[in-house]
Amino acid sequence: MPDLASASTSTADAAWWRDAVIYQVYPRSWADGNGDGLGDLPGITDRLPHLRDLGVDAVWLSPFYTSPQHDAGYDVADYCDVDPRFGTLADFDTLLNRAHDMGLRVIVDIVPNHSSSDHEWFQAALAAGPGSPERARYLFRDGRGPDGELPPNNWNSVFGGPGWTRVTEADGTAGQWYLHLFDVSQPDFDWTNPEVRELLLSVLAFWLDRGVDGFRIDVAHGLIKADGLPDAPDGWSESVGPTNAMPFWDQPGVHEIYRSWRELTDSYRSPSGDRILCGEAWVLPAPALARYTRPDELHQSFNFEYLMTPWRAERQRDSISRTLASAAEVGAPQTWVLSNHDVVRHASRLGFDQVADGLVRMGGIGIGDPQPDAAVGLARATAATAVMVALPGSAYLWQGEELGLPEVTDLADEVRQDPTFARSGGTDRGRDGCRVPMPWSPQGPTFGFGPDRPDAEPAWLPQPAVYGELSVAAQTGVEGSTLELYRTLLRLRRTHRLGRGTLTWLDENSPTVLCFQVDAGAGAVTVLANLGAEPVALPDGVTVLVASGPLDGGRVPTDTTVWLA
Ligand code: GLC
Repeated sequence: MPDLASASTSTADAAWWRDAVIYQVYPRSWADGNGDGLGDLPGITDRLPHLRDLGVDAVWLSPFYTSPQHDAGYDVADYCDVDPRFGTLADFDTLLNRAHDMGLRVIVDIVPNHSSSDHEWFQAALAAGPGSPERARYLFRDGRGPDGELPPNNWNSVFGGPGWTRVTEADGTAGQWYLHLFDVSQPDFDWTNPEVRELLLSVLAFWLDRGVDGFRIDVAHGLIKADGLPDAPDGWSESVGPTNAMPFWDQPGVHEIYRSWRELTDSYRSPSGDRILCGEAWVLPAPALARYTRPDELHQSFNFEYLMTPWRAERQRDSISRTLASAAEVGAPQTWVLSNHDVVRHASRLGFDQVADGLVRMGGIGIGDPQPDAAVGLARATAATAVMVALPGSAYLWQGEELGLPEVTDLADEVRQDPTFARSGGTDRGRDGCRVPMPWSPQGPTFGFGPDRPDAEPAWLPQPAVYGELSVAAQTGVEGSTLELYRTLLRLRRTHRLGRGTLTWLDENSPTVLCFQVDAGAGAVTVLANLGAEPVALPDGVTVLVASGPLDGGRVPTDTTVWLA
């Protein structure tokens, strides 16, 4: 592996992940190298200089494995190959080497809760019939009712509709049911089966041997189901109560799995860097989530509570303090995230009124729905990012947020592809609005997402006109652009080593102002964010290092964050 150690300050030690900025690339939507309308690995390789220039430490690639793409690749048919739509294993190796040459680490997505129904194991399970060892790799059960015509329990799919589907047996009779917490094409594995454990360990080893720097673990809190698959309590919603009140989330048995994974990644440790595990665990409350990052488990887990916290000073302060405290208890670094491929982009989410109570996990937005205020949303989004990337720990960015891309809220029903839309009967618009392909240039049929050739296909989701104005080329070198703001923030974060710093709340805090100092011995930085309606005077004698928006003389306007020295 090339000399990553000399690439940047934060990669100068094995524990690079403790303060890394990690950028999520969605292969379908980042860059289409061959003009088929879908992004691909060669497209990503060509565009890596954007990430180097942005100043991130690592890239996380959403799935690019062989898949029928019923859930955009989170339905994996072969964990150890690249889907031809995205390229080849050789293309992956090229991407990895090029990224390493630029000092960028590469994390890949692992989907252990379920496979695709196209996976050879599931096809074998269907063929082999009830009671077979093939069926025992998944969660097949007989139905309830006199003829087994009712699902085995009351679990629903996260995407809407029942969580069970009945199969037709080889002799043509209605047969057993299998569990799928997500789409019908995503059967859940039975993680009590040692064969499943071995399969996924061998998949991790396959990618570690190829040189990846770590894994983002899909649905990390879902692998183990409560014994006997009992009915779920009525009236439960994802935003209230401890997650493990549901018999399929956050069950104690998951931790043993991650201990075995950590043993494996630790066996690949080298002075040039740890190989890391980051869990996608939608787990509340914070101490339950912290259990995933005990010293012998995952290195990191996403902090979705922070993502769901409204833009209200007291709520933000509370969320940040709670995160710092619970992470400190297990000695793990905090992580921070505001957007990803499953949620409404924060430039739009924050363009709505911010509720005082509760957490906000918003479904997609469509035609006829209440629309966000774009200007307010962008001001708050950049102010929120300027808070986030100053916080100690590691920060995750979602592709396009560095351009201030809004959620696309006017996609026609016919173009929507997220299974959530169809499975919920259209009541949930789904996640397509945040997945619309990246704009790289102000002109061209796909704003540079694909090649500008007459035979090139349109982008797989249509891009709105505003994406051209917000493209990478349109913002590069433009003072005051969101892209240049992100570059400046990440540069200053690095020089002041903020990710390794200690946070202290300052006296300027108020019901509408967040104010803290982060100090890592490389020049302390004071961060002041104004979430109130009135401008706030800058403290005396300070130097403004960066501001998320124009200042009003010596005052910080509404929805603006400044970094001060
Ligand atoms: C995770 C992914 C999401 C996917 C789901 C099922 O939540 O982030 O995109 O649909 O798991 O794999």
